[in-house]
Amino acid sequence: MYKERLLTPGPTMIPQRVLQAMERPMLHHRSDVFKKELARGCEGIRWLFGWNSDPIFLACSGTGGMEAALVNTCQPGDEIITVNGGSFGARWRQIGERLGLVVHEIMVDWGSPVTVEQTRAMVEAHPKAKAFCVQHSETSTTVLHPLESLLPEVRKIAPEMLTIVDAISACATTPMPGTPSTIDIYIAGSQKAFSLPPGLTILALSEQAWSIIESTPRRTLYFDLLLERKSLSAGETSWTPASTIICGLNAAIELFREEGLEAIYARHRRLSRIAREGASALGCQVLATDAPCPSVTGFIPPTGVDADTLRSEVRKRYGIRLAGGQGKFNGAIVRVGHMGFVDPFDTLNAITAIGLTIRALGGGDELSKALIACLPNVEV
Ligand SMILES: Cc1ncc(COP(=O)(O)O)c(C=O)c1O
Repeated sequence: MYKERLLTPGPTMIPQRVLQAMERPMLHHRSDVFKKELARGCEGIRWLFGWNSDPIFLACSGTGGMEAALVNTCQPGDEIITVNGGSFGARWRQIGERLGLVVHEIMVDWGSPVTVEQTRAMVEAHPKAKAFCVQHSETSTTVLHPLESLLPEVRKIAPEMLTIVDAISACATTPMPGTPSTIDIYIAGSQKAFSLPPGLTILALSEQAWSIIESTPRRTLYFDLLLERKSLSAGETSWTPASTIICGLNAAIELFREEGLEAIYARHRRLSRIAREGASALGCQVLATDAPCPSVTGFIPPTGVDADTLRSEVRKRYGIRLAGGQGKFNGAIVRVGHMGFVDPFDTLNAITAIGLTIRALGGGDELSKALIACLPNVEV
């Protein structure tokens, strides 16, 4: 018997304490008990993000959060700038086009981060664009975009352009890449480093974002953020919330507080080093070596080993579920998730199982070398 281990870049494994917090008789979402949970959730997110304003909770997956950001701030015919460096970056265009927006894409090679120069050139060419939309980590290519240097540049050139950051796979793995002075909408999702079930999306909004939203004609009911803000001022959500996940969120935040933010970010950096150094020692070609994101590592297996076969054999033989590639990386890469409730031994398990399976598939026998490469990052 091998235990099932979910090491995908979302959903992620859920800690026992979080499971227990969700395992209670169903609360009614208009009850005082749930209102207290919601208020605790707001307070916890304010602590985690370091923002003063309350977040908005939406009962949807991350794509819903991206759509809510655009439908509340833009009107048909408005221009937006998006960074397309992977399948989540491409999603901005898909959403924008459905909403009748004119989308200017910064095309970035898959596996590379967007540069300040590319950004500057696009923002200077379209200074009237309503929003600049980017991922913090592009989960499909395992790249972390350098937002700390990029967002102030957007602000400098076009102060009124909203900056919308999809931090769905970056949040709680690495520090927030700015404050409300450079980030207008920050989007996080439950099924990533929060180690919660899918279904809760969290949005933090700057004053500038709210003032644009207030002056934008409403064209969505479910995702109406003004309505949500009004409901929240009465301690509720507009629609039936993902109440069970919000109870879990409060336990997740408790765990975050106990570990401490700096320790959480340091742990994700270690996990990323274990995965990258281990995979590389196994003869794999690791992606995004210039700008690796701390939440997931992607690699091309050694010559002669098919990525999808490797992944399915690792699952069949050792119970570890890994992710494959998306879009143009479909069938070509393997991704090891290491976000949320993951410790160095979990990532070491993944490298061990990958090494054993590569050997069984005739792709070389470098496991001892890989373990030697990993251990300095496992040891305390
Ligand atoms: C960077 C990023 N953006 C957005 C999403 C949202 O996808 P979904 O709507 O499937 O949660 C994901 C999920 O994998 C993601 O990693």
